[in-house]
Formats: sequence, C-alpha cells, structure tokens
Amino acid sequence: MTTVRSPKFELSQYKSVSNEELSTRIEAVRSQLGDQLLILGHHYQQDEVIQHADLRGDSYQLSKLAAESENCRWIVFCGVHFMAETADILANRPERDRGGDRVQVVLPDMAAGCSMADMAAIEQVENAWADLGDVLDTEDITPVTYINSAASLKAFCGRHGGIVCTSSNAAAVLEWAFARTSRVLFFPDQHLGRNTALKMGVTNEQMPVWDPCADELGGNSESQLLDSRVVLWKGHCSVHQMFQADHVADFRERFPGIRILVHPECPQEVNDLADISGSTGKIIRAVREAPAGTKWAIGTELHLVNRLQKEHPEQEIHFLSPIVCMCATMYRIDLAHLCWALENLAADALVNQIEVDDETAKWSVIALERMLAVTG
Ligand code: 13P
Ligand code: SF4
Repeated sequence: MTTVRSPKFELSQYKSVSNEELSTRIEAVRSQLGDQLLILGHHYQQDEVIQHADLRGDSYQLSKLAAESENCRWIVFCGVHFMAETADILANRPERDRGGDRVQVVLPDMAAGCSMADMAAIEQVENAWADLGDVLDTEDITPVTYINSAASLKAFCGRHGGIVCTSSNAAAVLEWAFARTSRVLFFPDQHLGRNTALKMGVTNEQMPVWDPCADELGGNSESQLLDSRVVLWKGHCSVHQMFQADHVADFRERFPGIRILVHPECPQEVNDLADISGSTGKIIRAVREAPAGTKWAIGTELHLVNRLQKEHPEQEIHFLSPIVCMCATMYRIDLAHLCWALENLAADALVNQIEVDDETAKWSVIALERMLAVTG
C-alpha cells in the first residue's frame, strides 16, 4: 500500500505547464503503473481530462465499475467527491478480501464537491427523521438517498432499511421501496424524486417538500405528511435548475420536429415537456442510436452536450439553455491536478486520498448493495 501522504511534487509546479506536456506526462504514468491504476471519468468531465480515463460512465456505471475493479491498487476518480467516496466503499467492500490491502481512491482536487450533495447534512436528515416520527410511523418509511450525497447519508439509509438510487435506476428503486413501506423519504434532489414518482402515479399533493431550515415539520402540516407518499427533500442541482419550460417552448417553435432530451435533475415543468428524460448514459445512448439529421435540444451539463455535438456532426445538437450551465466543481478536475496526483502516486506519495471510515462504510455498503441488487 502507498502510505506517504505529503506531496513529493507541489501543485504550483504544474500550473504553468502546457496542456500538451501535461497530457504526455499523464500518459507516461499510466504506462508505468499499468493495470494497477484505474482512472474513472464521469461524462461531465472536460474532453482534455476524460481522454485519459480508462473507463467512463454515468454515476451508476461508475459505481459498478468500482465495485467490479479486479486488479487495480489505485482508482483515480475524475469526477466529484461523492463519486470517489462511493468508489472507495464499493471497491473495498468486505467480501472483496484483499488480504488487508485497500484499493486507494484519489480525487485529484479535494474542492471537487457537489452543491446538491451539500444541501443535505446528516444532522438535518436525522432531525427530519425524528420529526417525521412525531407524526408518522418511521418503520413504514423507506429512506432513499440519491447517490449524489455524502457517505453518511448512505449509511443512514443502510441503518434504516433504505437504499441508494441514481438517475438511471430511480424508478426501480422507488418500486422496491414501495413494496416494502407505504412511504418514502427522498433526499437530497427533489426534482429526481418528483419526476420519477409522478411517472409512477404519485401526485404532487402526495409529495410535500421537506425544508430542513423550516421551524416545524419541514414547513408542512401534519395532514400534509399524513397524506404523503413521498416526502421530498428541498435540494436541487444548481446546474439543472437553470433549464426552464420557456427554453423548451422556444426550441419547439424555432425548430419544428426537434427532440428535447433532458436529465431528470431538471425541474418538473421541463421534464413534463421533454421527449426523453434520463441519466447521462441514457442521453448519450439516445443520440448514438438516432438517425442522421435528428435535431436535439439537450438539457444537461455543458461539457457533455459540447462533446455530443463534436462526436455527432451528422445530427443537429443544441444546448437547451441560452445561458451557460456548467458544473463548476466537475470542472475543477483539470490536467494540472490530474498530472500532479498521478506523478505523486508514481513517486509513492499518495495525495488527496478519499477514505470512508469503517463504521460509515459498513452501513453505506448495505444501501449501495441493495441498489446494485435491484438494478442488476
Ligand atoms: P448521472 O451521470 O448518473 O446521470 O448523474 C449526473 C450528475 O449530476 C452527476 O453528478
Ligand atoms: Fe452536483 Fe449538479 Fe454538478 Fe452533478 S451537475 S455534480 S448534481 S452540482
């Protein structure tokens, strides 16, 4: 195991190096470390970074890849913090006994967080659970956390009979939850929860929003909670929140026949008007499988839409919003950080390791494995 944690090389040395040289040096470390190194990249990463990933995917695919990683000693995660935490939990789950050797997970920039994940803190969720217990039987509520959340929230779900979901399996996960209990507490993304449950016949009246900052009962009356089927956490993605129903109407007017393709983190008004809604993986598949000449307006993070435009010149691809919607935290992973992390790793200096403590990992893996079992 690589244990040295203080960097041998300082990040500042990398800032003025050209992208071309950084790319060459990154590839040199990849060749040197071979199969021991696995670089995973989320679809929202910049082109210049994701080209160095061994494997890329949406959040679900990336968790499966980490869970199935066989020979590697290190996973370097080009994505955000909750993804690296999930990789650490799944790559090191108890049944994968590696004789005491952990797979060590590295996030090239520790500031690559997720503003949505930050909208639900474990203390807030525990308080909400206790408050819900004043009105409802919590034995009859399944807590469901979107994978975009801290490991402590996944552990909360593991401890309370709950489960994790991603944007690609939220419907299957909610079905699993409703087979078990009559209610769900869904956090932190209200839009994914609402958009998924609406398609299953749950009404907006049955989905009160829980505001963790409200004085009492998350800002709801007792009768609203008694009538609820899904209690939605008041959280959202600041990137997908920017897409609006007006943008859809505008494209439909200007480009008759255009297909609207959005991520389920977009608000309900946008999802309702879209032709297709799905994870980044589903968005990519939809474009790949479409015939030449198809016109799309796509509502998801800018770097992915720009890449699809470049990869599919035979189609006409537009960005759904007139303003730039990019994930500033995903963007923090740049070539300088990646090269810095990798060259330190190759010099036995493990920097920016993401390591979930044993107690949190023990409970979160239960909620994550439930998701993997439901999704298959
Ligand atoms: P997916 O790639 O799972 O669709 O998630 C999108 C996202 O917001 C990641 O943070
Ligand atoms: Fe979080 Fe939204 Fe960025 Fe995804 S796109 S990492 S949900 S802030």
